[in-house]
Amino acid sequence: MKNYVIKGNICYSKTSKELCMTENGYIVCEDGRCAGVYERLPEKYQSLPCYNYEDKIIVPGLVDLHIHAPQYSFRGRGMDLELIDWLNTHTFAEEAKYADLEYAKKAYGIFAEDLKNSATTRACIFATIHTPATLLLMEELEETGLKAYVGKVNMDRNSPEYLCESSAEKSEKDTEEWLIESRKFKNIKPVLTPRFTPSCTDELFERLSKLQKRYGLPVQSHLSENLGETLWVKELCLDIGFYGESYDRYGMFGDGCPTIMAHCVHSGEDEIEMMRRQKVFIAHCPESNANLSSGAAPVKLYLEKGMKVGLGSDIAAGSALSIFKAMVMAVQCSKLRWRLYDQTVLPLTVEEVFYLATKGGGEFFGKVGSFEEGYEFDALVLDDSRIRHPQELSVRERLERLIYLSGECHIAAKFVNGRIIFREN
Ligand code: GUN
Ligand code: FE
Repeated sequence: MKNYVIKGNICYSKTSKELCMTENGYIVCEDGRCAGVYERLPEKYQSLPCYNYEDKIIVPGLVDLHIHAPQYSFRGRGMDLELIDWLNTHTFAEEAKYADLEYAKKAYGIFAEDLKNSATTRACIFATIHTPATLLLMEELEETGLKAYVGKVNMDRNSPEYLCESSAEKSEKDTEEWLIESRKFKNIKPVLTPRFTPSCTDELFERLSKLQKRYGLPVQSHLSENLGETLWVKELCLDIGFYGESYDRYGMFGDGCPTIMAHCVHSGEDEIEMMRRQKVFIAHCPESNANLSSGAAPVKLYLEKGMKVGLGSDIAAGSALSIFKAMVMAVQCSKLRWRLYDQTVLPLTVEEVFYLATKGGGEFFGKVGSFEEGYEFDALVLDDSRIRHPQELSVRERLERLIYLSGECHIAAKFVNGRIIFREN
């Protein structure tokens, strides 16, 4: 169905400070986009079919700016190490299994189904170095109706032999073949994915940079996540001032190249200034940063500087697929950061994390993550009726409670770009 109306209690962000609420309101979806939010439905839309969600809460779909699909299989395990040891002990061994297409089919089938049923409508996803398995992941995701960027991972150094591409040239060749094959997908688009600076030689970066320009690709990677990692990058790259320059010198750090950098926990002033100026998106992954003892990013500072920020689950360094959980952990980590070691950066508010999970991350996909006119119609209908309470609650209070108690609510319907992903009635 192309054009329709949905009715319920509508909540969305205009800015990181401002939540818009329309109780018992209407959203009009025209050709996959939002044509407006109304308290009373205008005459011209009254002939459209209307899904009445009564007292339920309708929010924009949630955006996961950073997730590793092959790691979904071991989430919740191996959380007693820091980043580099965690990669070497658990992660690389699991990712190597995706050379086997049968294993990949099982694992990515589970991942795609769970992502479809989650609150996430858009995601930026790392696969592995394996082209056939990455294409299979894209196929599985294409069928869900969700929209996503997926990256075949590049890594040609400092990786175990069983998960290391044999040369920069081979990595480039495989990547180009994968890019050409992935043209067949409509909802799932490729993103260039050098794993992080320690796993990529200068030659590989040079080759990827040429591909980036030739195909006009976006880029995703990791930046200033963990202390051990940032010290290692200093040793590996003696000729740069800060970690971000290791991407920037190859033109893969914003400034015309749409870029997501995950974490940015330990970014210094120069790195922050370059990200701001060059409009690099930061994927803030609070659960991952806690699990791997990476630290807590100064997210409020990033927002105050007008930088581009969204949330990421970072499965499997983060255990939960839920971006509601990422919202809660973002608030909690920001409070601990403020209380324990830096009173100059204030904690995040509920308004701010709701914005990060919707419009903040959504901006990477274009006009996504809000119900303002012209935005792609991505929506969740949330049922909080199982949480019992004796007192009257406003919609604002119910939304706040729903973020914290998302495990006790369920999703009654989900829409992406106007397409119904599922709905109860
Ligand atoms: N840095 C390089 N690879 C990874 C990864 O798989 N997860 C996380 N959290 N950080 C990384
Ligand atoms: Fe990651």
